[in-house]
Amino acid sequence: MKVDVAGGPLETSKTDAIVVGVYAEEKTLRDAAARVDKALGGQLSEVLEAERFSAKPAHVTHVHTAGRIPAGRVIVVGLGKRVDLTLETVRRAASAALRRARDLGAKSVAIDVLGGRLPARSRAHAVTEGALLGAYTFDRYKREKSEKRVEALTVVEADTPRRREVTEGARTGEVFADATCFARDLVNSPANDVHPTYLAKVAGDIAKEAKLGVKVFDRAECQKMGMGLFLGVAAGSEQPPKFIHLSYTPSGRKRRRVAVIGKGITFDSGGLDLKSAEGMLRMKDDMSGAAAVLAIMRALPRLAPSVEVHGLIAATENMPSGAAIRPGDVLRAMNGTTVEIGNTDAEGRLTLADAICYAIDKVGADEMVDMATLTGACVVALGPLCSGLFSNDQKLADRLVEAAENAGERVWQLPLFDEYRENLKSDVADFNNVGPRGGGAITAGLFLKEFAGDRPWAHLDIAGPAFVEKDTPTGPKGATGAPVRTMLCYLMSQ
Ligand code: BES
Ligand code: ZN
Ligand code: ZN
Repeated sequence: MKVDVAGGPLETSKTDAIVVGVYAEEKTLRDAAARVDKALGGQLSEVLEAERFSAKPAHVTHVHTAGRIPAGRVIVVGLGKRVDLTLETVRRAASAALRRARDLGAKSVAIDVLGGRLPARSRAHAVTEGALLGAYTFDRYKREKSEKRVEALTVVEADTPRRREVTEGARTGEVFADATCFARDLVNSPANDVHPTYLAKVAGDIAKEAKLGVKVFDRAECQKMGMGLFLGVAAGSEQPPKFIHLSYTPSGRKRRRVAVIGKGITFDSGGLDLKSAEGMLRMKDDMSGAAAVLAIMRALPRLAPSVEVHGLIAATENMPSGAAIRPGDVLRAMNGTTVEIGNTDAEGRLTLADAICYAIDKVGADEMVDMATLTGACVVALGPLCSGLFSNDQKLADRLVEAAENAGERVWQLPLFDEYRENLKSDVADFNNVGPRGGGAITAGLFLKEFAGDRPWAHLDIAGPAFVEKDTPTGPKGATGAPVRTMLCYLMSQ
């Protein structure tokens, strides 16, 4: 979808549809809605009155304009009570409005920068982002593509002095949404196409297009670096593993060096500890962390944050075969730590551990954040819409919580109790890769923490929100693109 910013006024827009916002519990229409109502000779307020439109957040209705203004339809979206308005209300409202516009067959839509009370730049960001996220569909594998597709979005800001802020906000919102949809596409695509070699190719393409540094290490090179945990997971698969390293260097004085690490299991069968048919169904999504890394790296040059960012992915399948690792095997990590395999289905932490070692040893990262569909236990703890956050550095955790809040994504910090460390004891190796069932998300976090040492590190367990079974206010069921926007907000705030 093409995005433009224009000065309006909205009611003269020649697009197929225009979108205005309305607040709950207000007697008269105001701002853009009032001007559109006037241009329609009061038709809008009449319809809203007759329908008893309550203007609850993201509730939508529409009217046909019968030639009274150039746009064929006016879409009205509820914003809830004026005093309760947040950027997330704006984002969800724009999303709902764009979905309605699309379903009505509109190809071009003009939308008011909703949410008057909030800063213009963030409103424009939220409106644009919400609109693009809401209109997302995934039909790459369908013969019949839907004809209904919004091709052009105009973000309208009548106030000339504010136009610059609005333009900048809309542009950032577009980059954020674009990155999110890029991750969604990768995760929604099936594992027979999205294998480690494919992820490596995508990384190469991104590097070329976005002028990033890229290195891809094959099995032999990973062997040389001593990545025994990563290669152990890869042992059972016919697909060759790839270790991917993308890097973004800001212009000017170099600042901090952040590593973002994504779990890149392109399919998780469980390995010899095979998952049930039901448990395996979704497991093409086990590379959601990797998809987020690729999406983030691709967006960085357009956002130009002033941190150096390294994107790391240890990409492999987790498959059972005669060559696969067995329960009871002992593997050696890049930093020399030995790990006994208690369960081959706890593979994510193994691949991430070697990626963390690489971030410390080869990248010299000042700070690391990993994103992983790591445990079913995290979904049990927080439900399907919220990521678990773990960290050995409270300041880092606080900054990530704030970033998630600004991004409109849900994150909740969980503890890393020292007492639970003994759950990872092994009789034969330094650690076992699994502990008891209770507190499984914490155990996984504690395992990763051992490899981070005293380097500031945070872990986002995205097993729930990376992929959802129901439509959400900002997208259809399936891949969500979490936590791309949180991480972009985080990197931009450095
Ligand atoms: N990829 C799964 C975690 C997962 C489960 C993600 C459900 C999304 C939805 C991970 O590799 C896994 O299998 N974890 C095991 C760990 C257990 C064996 C300690 C789990 O959560 O059951
Ligand atoms: Zn697994
Ligand atoms: Zn997994």
